[in-house]
Amino acid sequence: MTAKIIDGKALASRIRSSLKNDIQKLSREKGYLPGLAVILVGKDPASQIYVRNKEKACKEIGIESRVIYMEENISQDELLREINTLNNDKSIHGILVQLPLPSHIDEDAVISAIDPMKDVDGFHPVTTGKLFVGQMGFEPCTPKGIITLIKETGQDITGKHAVVIGRSNIVGKPVAIMLLRENATVTICHSKTKKLKEISKNADILVVAMGRPESIDDGYIKEGAIVIDVGTTRVDGKLKGDVVFDKAVHKAGWITPVPGGVGPMTITMLLKNTILAAYGNE
Ligand code: GUN
Repeated sequence: MTAKIIDGKALASRIRSSLKNDIQKLSREKGYLPGLAVILVGKDPASQIYVRNKEKACKEIGIESRVIYMEENISQDELLREINTLNNDKSIHGILVQLPLPSHIDEDAVISAIDPMKDVDGFHPVTTGKLFVGQMGFEPCTPKGIITLIKETGQDITGKHAVVIGRSNIVGKPVAIMLLRENATVTICHSKTKKLKEISKNADILVVAMGRPESIDDGYIKEGAIVIDVGTTRVDGKLKGDVVFDKAVHKAGWITPVPGGVGPMTITMLLKNTILAAYGNE
């Protein structure tokens, strides 16, 4: 069996075209464009690339983006003041603080300072609490992209066994909750899980978000499963997923490539959340 490739790049491109129309409609009806503020503290090279990509994606579809660069050694208070200013700025509908932050700044305090109505990353404790109890709120971008990719296969999620490998606040935990909401039976695995191979081999849907390049081969995959590879680790200048693609592709039914799978969907969902925020905050 050779798996069907779930093309995240093509899907992201289709969604972005339709978002462009949504923005034109917003502009016609309300007379303003969605505005996204991105705060980057310091000069981490990977974060600089991520922020540049977000800025470019906004521009392409008509979202007004404002990048605020802050020095590595700014105080937490200065950063909180900047967030407060953006919270009160009517032209800004979404606020994103690029992570990681320098170690002298308390990440939780910073995320909690963002107005939940502008929390397009979906990281604020109020937003995650809403997700947990099933209330409307922003869904975090990578998990939202993952669910969209799974639905792209046309397979019903209801009643399926979904195994999530990874328990981060950004991916593992929220995607597990979202799969549960789609009526999957969900197992969350992590670095201390015993018999990982046996558990993951039981998965109809396998979401791998460990951050350990090429650690999941065909021995962990059930014949015909949907495999979503969230890993993006740079090895010798090349982007590697957590899954050994060349082996897994002969066992899975559907699989996302790296690059070109989950990655393009994450920014697309950020754009989608920013448009939702712009509709909500007139
Ligand atoms: N750093 C790596 N991924 C992300 C993300 O999705 N959002 C933010 N704010 N920072 C990140």
